[in-house]
Amino acid sequence: DAPETNPFDVAKIAAQEIADATGVDHHDIALTLGSGWGKAADLIGETTHTIPAQEITGFSAPALAGHAGMLRSVLLPTGKRALVIGARTHYYEGHGVRRVVHSVRTAAATGATTMILTNGAGGIRETWTPGTPVLISDHINLTADSPLEGATFIDLTDLYSQRLRDLARGIDASLDEGVYCQFRGPHYETPAEVQMAKAIGGHIVGMSTALEAIAARQAGMEILGMSLITNLAAGIQKTPLSHGEVLEAGQQAEATISALLAKIVASL
Ligand code: 6GU
Repeated sequence: DAPETNPFDVAKIAAQEIADATGVDHHDIALTLGSGWGKAADLIGETTHTIPAQEITGFSAPALAGHAGMLRSVLLPTGKRALVIGARTHYYEGHGVRRVVHSVRTAAATGATTMILTNGAGGIRETWTPGTPVLISDHINLTADSPLEGATFIDLTDLYSQRLRDLARGIDASLDEGVYCQFRGPHYETPAEVQMAKAIGGHIVGMSTALEAIAARQAGMEILGMSLITNLAAGIQKTPLSHGEVLEAGQQAEATISALLAKIVASL
């Protein structure tokens, strides 16, 4: 992570290691599976290779001991290849933004031109009961950081592809969409911060995705973002938030939303 290291070179090395480990030298689609979305890896197609992420250059050891993040190469029924990233480095881990977006840059270096980013997040709209999947229509990056370095003035219009959102709604017309606010975390927001997010146009609060989407746009990928609402945000929900509640909501919704995501992937 030395400043003189080129993060795109590191991503190229990682992509070559994935090609060497799998014999698959090109992926078409990449998916980062967040809280509650993990089962999609099994539903989209046939996993031909599974690699512990920390065996690949630039990927961190798992944040939680015993929960090795895995990379999978999946053959889709359409004949396309998907790289499934079950290992996400969060900004709040403190390893810097390069590490956060390394998986996205690696996916791009394997050839992927579509990036599907999923997460578990808090909802600001009262009608979004835990377990509701929501399309991300745009984001507000509240980390005060960026994966871009130097004078890289890229456009972020239609960052979360309108085409892919329309395609997703073709599978499930009831899908709502909203603006995702990435906070630094790892604490949840205060009720006042949630009111701020609402006032500035946010609908979803979380700790990932926005920085990754910026890196994916820089790499020229088309992006689909989806949040699973695991709970209502602080102050909207009257009871205190707990990580256990978040995980449980994810587990309960997992089968349904993973099946939905698999259908969307099949239609790409
Ligand atoms: Cl309420 N906030 C954030 N930042 N992340 C979350 C969440 C809330 N609920 C699940 N993940």
